[in-house]
Amino acid sequence: MKVLFIGDIVGDIGLDAVEKYLPKLKRKYAIDVVIANAENAAKGRGLTRRIYQDLLMMGVDAMTMGNHTWDQREIFDFIDDADYLVRPANFSEDAPGKGMTTVTKNGQTISIINLHGRVFLPPHEDPFKVGKELVAEAKKVSPLVFVDFHAETTSEKIALGWHLAGEASCVVGTHTHVQTADSRILPGGTAYISDVGMTGPYNEVLGMKKESVLYRFQTNLPVRFEVPTKGDAVLSAVFVELDDKTGQAKQMERIYINPDNPFKG
Ligand SMILES: [Fe+2]
Ligand SMILES: [Fe+2]
Repeated sequence: MKVLFIGDIVGDIGLDAVEKYLPKLKRKYAIDVVIANAENAAKGRGLTRRIYQDLLMMGVDAMTMGNHTWDQREIFDFIDDADYLVRPANFSEDAPGKGMTTVTKNGQTISIINLHGRVFLPPHEDPFKVGKELVAEAKKVSPLVFVDFHAETTSEKIALGWHLAGEASCVVGTHTHVQTADSRILPGGTAYISDVGMTGPYNEVLGMKKESVLYRFQTNLPVRFEVPTKGDAVLSAVFVELDDKTGQAKQMERIYINPDNPFKG
């Protein structure tokens, strides 16, 4: 199975970049399944039903979330019906939605799990324990298991990568919005990267207007961060090819498209 994972889609610029480049990427890599982190898709904050449906229409097969899961109030109205949307599995057991789903394409099923880090982030349940249990449960269905670990620090992500090495097919990090250069296949065939990076405004700070971020850093005064609607885009993703029988990753490639590094077909 050939999987494309797109890092945190931020606002309209991010959505437009997905619409523009996803068909080209699908063709170039002969992609079977597309997974995307959609926690910032609704103007930087959360996800709406409309955008969830738009992304499915664009060819995204499943979406993961993160600390922005609950930012749009309407998520509570549709998350339980959204079959291809997962929020972190180590949220409270009372939280609506689910932490794992499956996608079947071309006769192969892959499980998708979302986990949330606990370093410099709210104290959710233990992602190492919940991750281990869910991967074991997923492997009863299919050897193909994809994990998006939404976390702040590289150390926590690398540790989870080793924790699930040889068990999950992929452990990819999201949340920092900056792509790391450490993609590799860990012993046991687990494709790993500390952070895939984000898909959205290129000339800003992590997708937010740089003027407001600069103002906050220099004054420590409250200011609302805004996501621009015009400007250049960056698309950050990874391509992973998995062995359908063993679930192990055979190859992994970082994708980073922006005006300084245009798409090459
Ligand atoms: Fe994000
Ligand atoms: Fe995040």
